[in-house]
Amino acid sequence: MELEKEWFSNWFDSPYYHVLYKNRDMQEAEFFLRNLVTKLTLNTNQKLIDLACGKGRHSIFLNSLGFDVTGVDLSSNSIASAKNFENNKLTFEVQDLRNLKYDSQFDVALNLFTSFGYFDCNKTNQTVIEQIHKILKPQGILVIDFMNVDLVLKHLKPKEIITREGIQFTISKQIEDGVIIKQIEIEDGGKKLKFHEEVQILNRMDFEKILTSGGFTLQAYYGNYNLEPFDTITSERLILVATKNA
Ligand SMILES: C[S@@+](CC[C@H](N)C(=O)[O-])C[C@H]1O[C@@H](n2cnc3c(N)ncnc32)[C@H](O)[C@@H]1O
Repeated sequence: MELEKEWFSNWFDSPYYHVLYKNRDMQEAEFFLRNLVTKLTLNTNQKLIDLACGKGRHSIFLNSLGFDVTGVDLSSNSIASAKNFENNKLTFEVQDLRNLKYDSQFDVALNLFTSFGYFDCNKTNQTVIEQIHKILKPQGILVIDFMNVDLVLKHLKPKEIITREGIQFTISKQIEDGVIIKQIEIEDGGKKLKFHEEVQILNRMDFEKILTSGGFTLQAYYGNYNLEPFDTITSERLILVATKNA
């Protein structure tokens, strides 16, 4: 009997995800990472892991700066695409954040562009943080780049139609039990497909709780890719920097 695939295995592995989010590009990744590397005074002797790396836009840029980077993602299509960029300091692997196959070997773990909160319970969030704790060296750094849920909820459009590359995406959003649920209906020529996306509504306090009970200390948080102070009402992002407790 074939087990039903979890929604994130379907949607993020499909080419349509990459068309819909094509504005989340290399340029955005470079801008953010230049600021982050400076702010955290990272140096190229440090070993980085990009958790839920997608096609590897952040990993590839960090590697171009001289860092040793490992990128992991559940999507085998995204990892196959990222593998084209591999070199002796850049590797990609299909792995599940809930069960990472490394020991404590990384100095910095990155979880970027809302790649957290996909699971249906807080226990799994905690499992992911414990896994990240396991793979970091003592005092290792964790950066989580999440949406600012207050801003997202304030501007939530119940329905919108977006056309990209001749493909029509009809997106309906609703809130259910602390989760934003996006239904995505696609019309591509004669083809009609349906996907959905779910992200938990997690604010700074929720993250602080999850991080603290997972053995991390929240050190700082920022509100955009320029790393300006976080403001609940206006910030686009919630970017958290935590360190693994010794
Ligand atoms: C919004 S995308 C962000 C991708 C990438 N960080 C970027 O900025 O381009 C979220 C990613 O999380 C990955 N993902 C979802 N659940 C995962 C899991 N359990 N383990 C590993 N990756 C997962 C998806 O395959 C997808 O590539």
